[in-house]
Amino acid sequence: MQTIVTDSAEEAAKILNSGGVVAFPTETVYGLGAGIYCADAIRQVFCAKGRPGDNPLIVHIYSIEQLGDVAGDINSGAQKLIEQFFPGPLTLVLKKNPQIPDSVTAGLDTVGVRCPLNPVAREFLRRCSGPVAAPSANLSGLPSATRWETVYGDLHGKIDCVLRGEPSSIGLESTIIDCSGSVPTLLRAGAITLEQLRAVLPEIRLNVPAADEEKVPKCPGLKYPHYAPKATVLLCEGNEKIIVGPSSGYIGLSKPPEGALVVKVCSNLEEYGRELFSFFRRCDAEGIKVIYCELPSNKGIGRAIRDRLLRASGKD
Ligand code: TXA
Ligand code: MG
Repeated sequence: MQTIVTDSAEEAAKILNSGGVVAFPTETVYGLGAGIYCADAIRQVFCAKGRPGDNPLIVHIYSIEQLGDVAGDINSGAQKLIEQFFPGPLTLVLKKNPQIPDSVTAGLDTVGVRCPLNPVAREFLRRCSGPVAAPSANLSGLPSATRWETVYGDLHGKIDCVLRGEPSSIGLESTIIDCSGSVPTLLRAGAITLEQLRAVLPEIRLNVPAADEEKVPKCPGLKYPHYAPKATVLLCEGNEKIIVGPSSGYIGLSKPPEGALVVKVCSNLEEYGRELFSFFRRCDAEGIKVIYCELPSNKGIGRAIRDRLLRASGKD
């Protein structure tokens, strides 16, 4: 299959509307989109990524009016979060509208819904004839793609189109809050921070794995290895003295260790989040064997960076 690369949201939406699979930019990471009612395209999304069928897809909408097509009952907590944070880098898990195919939600009775803010994503979604299911546009298990070139490298020949945009401005996947039960729960940390969310809904709790989590995980995707580069990820503290071996990389806020070959010193946590996945990709491309990563605290967006680093290092 030939993969078309285009700058035109109109062309990309036409391809999706005729049953194609289209990667598109969002402010978090690039998404791999298919129309939710297009069974073949949904199958192709799982197949192109090598994604297990029991891992549900997030449904992307253009406007809040489309929510009713996707979700069933929207409680007052969810309503508050929608008012405050949609459109933006937040996904809400809600009771699903029964018309959403099981292949999208992996048979769950809930659905993840997100309304992106990135203008190219919005232009694309506005031209799509209905809601668009989209996981991150990367091969399963690899770090999410924050640049169109990375999407193309992972998926060309397996998808119909890449809508080319700027690198993602946040660089980390959306915050996910489960609003389908009695207590809203943070399933995945992201750029909308726990502090910001609790300012609107103080009762939001952290995801504590239940005893039966192995059988019925709250967030099915979290049981799979994620975000990991081929290189080994080692975590370090800012003030730690590290002796690096050959072929090492470093990313963090503090001064890099002497001898690291590929280095990214970030001036703040936002830059760290934006650069992390593309740094992992760069290190793999340059044959780096060990990446030292400074582990930030759980404050603000540090929680999301910390989460991705712990997963990438195999510690979570
Ligand atoms: O920022 C993002 O969220 C990006 C962009 C493209 O929107 N998408 C993304 O999709 O990161 P993906 O598929 O890579 O991660 C979605 C996560 C998975 O861990 C999945 O299990 C979880 O969301 N998820 C989706 N639907 C769910 C549901 N109904 N209940 C619980 N978890 C759900
Ligand atoms: Mg993903």
